[in-house]
Amino acid sequence: MNDHLEVLRAMRAKALEGGGPDRIAQQHARGKLTARERLALLLDDGSFQELGALATHDETEFGLADQRYPGDGVVAGFGKVSGRRVAAFAQDFTVIGGSFSRVQSHKISRIQDLALESGVPIIGLNDSGGARIQEGVASLAAYGEVFVRNVMCSGVIPQISVILGPCAGGAVYSPALTDFVVMARGTSSMFLTGPDVIEAVTGELVSIEELGGSDVHEARSGVAHLVADNELGAIELAKLLLGFLPQNNNEDPPQLVPYDPAERMADELNAVIPDDEAETYDVRDILGHVFDRDSFLEVHAAYAANAVTGFARLDGFAVGIVANQPAVMAGVLDIDASDKIARFIRICDVYNIPVVTFVDCPGFLPGIDQEYQGVIRHGAKIIYAYCEATVPKISIVTRRAMGGAYVAMSSRQMRTDIAFAWPSAQIAVMGAEAAVRILYAREVRAATDPAAVTAEYVRQYRDAFFNPYRAADVGQIDEVIEPRETRPRLIRALELLRTKVQQNPPKKHGLFPA
Ligand code: HXC
Repeated sequence: MNDHLEVLRAMRAKALEGGGPDRIAQQHARGKLTARERLALLLDDGSFQELGALATHDETEFGLADQRYPGDGVVAGFGKVSGRRVAAFAQDFTVIGGSFSRVQSHKISRIQDLALESGVPIIGLNDSGGARIQEGVASLAAYGEVFVRNVMCSGVIPQISVILGPCAGGAVYSPALTDFVVMARGTSSMFLTGPDVIEAVTGELVSIEELGGSDVHEARSGVAHLVADNELGAIELAKLLLGFLPQNNNEDPPQLVPYDPAERMADELNAVIPDDEAETYDVRDILGHVFDRDSFLEVHAAYAANAVTGFARLDGFAVGIVANQPAVMAGVLDIDASDKIARFIRICDVYNIPVVTFVDCPGFLPGIDQEYQGVIRHGAKIIYAYCEATVPKISIVTRRAMGGAYVAMSSRQMRTDIAFAWPSAQIAVMGAEAAVRILYAREVRAATDPAAVTAEYVRQYRDAFFNPYRAADVGQIDEVIEPRETRPRLIRALELLRTKVQQNPPKKHGLFPA
């Protein structure tokens, strides 16, 4: 028996070394932690239960007979984050560049299955050179095993991908299929085809950072939802994010003990909308006053910054926030903002997180490029997502709600439960000048003083439409409230809606505009 124990202990000790001391030193020299060090940061002390620690490929593997490492490029298992059960894996770059192998696939698939069956979130710490080239088609098939499970888990258990090194080739698609991608600035990258292949095929020269660094995916591609300054920050962001999510789609997100008075009014909000309509403001100033102190976690902050999405708490309950951002492009909706908003609403809906929408939007962005790029089908995603969502939905029109933007941004008719407006709301088919140009072209042309006549028509139009009361008369707005009351109003509304039941017709799935 003692011999058997010795063998096991020796193999376990080897597994703890990953690719060996030299590779670990290289990993550290690059400012990166090892897979086990990362899991130790993610999981509660002593909670990690490893599975497949000793698995590796057999001696016949092409070119890898002398590179057999117990654990084979990934550390996987389950544990706890802030006392909540999770499944987790961390790719080990010190073992053949974290490349994705059959064994790696078996180990990750195994914990995906266990996580799905047990209804617990799964967090992947990614650091991989993509499909293990020596394994040939087997490593491609191995990806398929993980992808199918990513999709089966989608909308059932939260899936968070943290990118902590290169994530090349097929390695990017599993994260892309998960709910959230978190990157670490400077040390992580994501690309499908690397700089060498791009140079060979297109002749373009690009560095890894320029091609797929965190700045690219944070602000341009939108692949990354959250970016931290370093590895530790990225892991902390994943944990923070997890706090807003339920264990699975049959549960509600955890509620914190309320720490900010529910009846707190914010007088500052009464002065937040500038008197001069041409002036902008930062919608995040509003959010800071309404939600529980310091609870806002912005998601996709630098991508499509003309819209703001993120999680926060109201009286300790998790909520999702969608807002136009007047400080960027006047808060207009474009293709990227549409994609960002629609995706966020669907995440909230699937995980039972109420959606609170702040509306101040002049409409969809006019332009040939936007039309050619398909602003119609992208804009339709927002409408689809709001209409489809059955979670509690509350909207607040703070200023402009013009035309398509009024309808698309959580209008009452699209199954929004309660629609509030501030007295500064302007709800109209279009802006005053544009409306007068269309409605009174003949009168203005015939006038001896066209400018004066135009100004008079504009005044009449504004008197008629640039307030929330006409919309309130016909129930498009449920209540006009003072800005300072917004927090208690929202809390009471969400209290009512906590037991909301609404179902969509049975179907295989809808056809989300893509
Ligand atoms: C086997 C790999 C590997 C891979 C890296 N290594 N990627 N081994 N298969 N895919 C090995 C290297 O040979 C090296 O071993 C060790 O890992 C560390 O790699 P380095 O290149 O020294 O590290 P670094 O300079 O940091 O560069 C990291 C990297 C680079 C940018 C990820 O290794 C790289 O470009 N790898 C290939 C990426 C790629 O094209 N993947 C696509 C595969 S095809 P030694 O022993 O020399 O130190 C694919 C398609 C799937 O994934 C599609 C599914 C839908």
